[in-house]
Amino acid sequence: MPERIYNFSPGPATLPYEVLQQAAKDVVNYRGKGIGLIEMSHRSKDFIAITDEAERLLRELLAIPANYKVLFLQGGASLQFAMVPMNLLGPGKTASYLNTGVWAKKAIKEAKLFGNVQVAYTSEATKFDHVPKDGDYQVDHAAEYLYYVSNNTIYGTEFPGTPKSDKPLVCDMSSDILSRPFDIAPFGLVFAGVQKNMGPAGCTVVIIRGDLLDRTPESVPTMLRYKTHADNGSMFNTPPCFAIYCIGEVLKWLKGLGGLTAIEKMNQEKAALLYQAIDATDFYRGHARPGSRSLMNVTFNLPTPELEAKFIAEATAAGLDGLKGHRSVGGCRASIYNAFPKDGVAKLVEFMREFEKKNR
Ligand SMILES: Cc1ncc(COP(=O)(O)O)c(C=O)c1O
Repeated sequence: MPERIYNFSPGPATLPYEVLQQAAKDVVNYRGKGIGLIEMSHRSKDFIAITDEAERLLRELLAIPANYKVLFLQGGASLQFAMVPMNLLGPGKTASYLNTGVWAKKAIKEAKLFGNVQVAYTSEATKFDHVPKDGDYQVDHAAEYLYYVSNNTIYGTEFPGTPKSDKPLVCDMSSDILSRPFDIAPFGLVFAGVQKNMGPAGCTVVIIRGDLLDRTPESVPTMLRYKTHADNGSMFNTPPCFAIYCIGEVLKWLKGLGGLTAIEKMNQEKAALLYQAIDATDFYRGHARPGSRSLMNVTFNLPTPELEAKFIAEATAAGLDGLKGHRSVGGCRASIYNAFPKDGVAKLVEFMREFEKKNR
């Protein structure tokens, strides 16, 4: 492998090196067919096979039954903030939302354009340093769905499990999908921008229960209706071909590692290394409360903003890139998605110890 830096970016993020190598070959000449992957018609036999395989692997790894549709869409996870209420919430109807950070707030803002929103819980008063437990909130009895963000990329908080509710769950899993197993049954809809755990930017995966496809009001435009894409196998229009191809390659890699149970164990080990380093000293302070800590994004502060800037600059120079916290919260954030190597986490821990010794 050529010299590579450790990329702690929150997304687009580190991809498996094998996938990058295969993609580099296939972009120029797809499997020796004399045509580059990104030159092929999306209606060609070869590209339809690529899409079918990506969907098949996703269904297999996440154990998605036949009554759910898998869609490969564009517009980013952000378009889902509007598409969800546009399709699932009629005028005068109510949906419940758990406000655990910026991405939830953006979704709440869009939902208000289409119906009533009950914010059943918010952790804003403590800078979104935790996610609620089941007993901490009450969902409106008339709610069409309960919406939450399973992993809050900016704050480094993550729901340790699936919230219990008698309402269909709608979840933004952009930053932790495929990082651990979960049961799809309580979910009406799951979506994820793929640029963190599944591939490059440019595609959003939507998994929607089939019976919800017929709820959409007549007034919703064709491209913004889930049914349009479900009825056309995500090929109503030209899909994000390169991203879909990469998703398939990442899923093959993930299956080869042993699937979600195996990757969960690896993710737990990587995150434990970092949290232990943070907890071992008062020089570093974790942002997320212990019961809400994310396995994907580890957020922490140093004693002063000046030390944080120095830490980030010196880490970058040492080949540890992308550790600056989100502009809205500052501090440091190490994003360690599925494809991020454990060696890189160990290197960061070593760097943290050395930095503390020199700067305490
Ligand atoms: C949890 C979560 N939801 C949504 C988004 C927005 O994704 P996109 O840029 O694809 O619209 C992000 C981006 O980082 C995110 O982390």
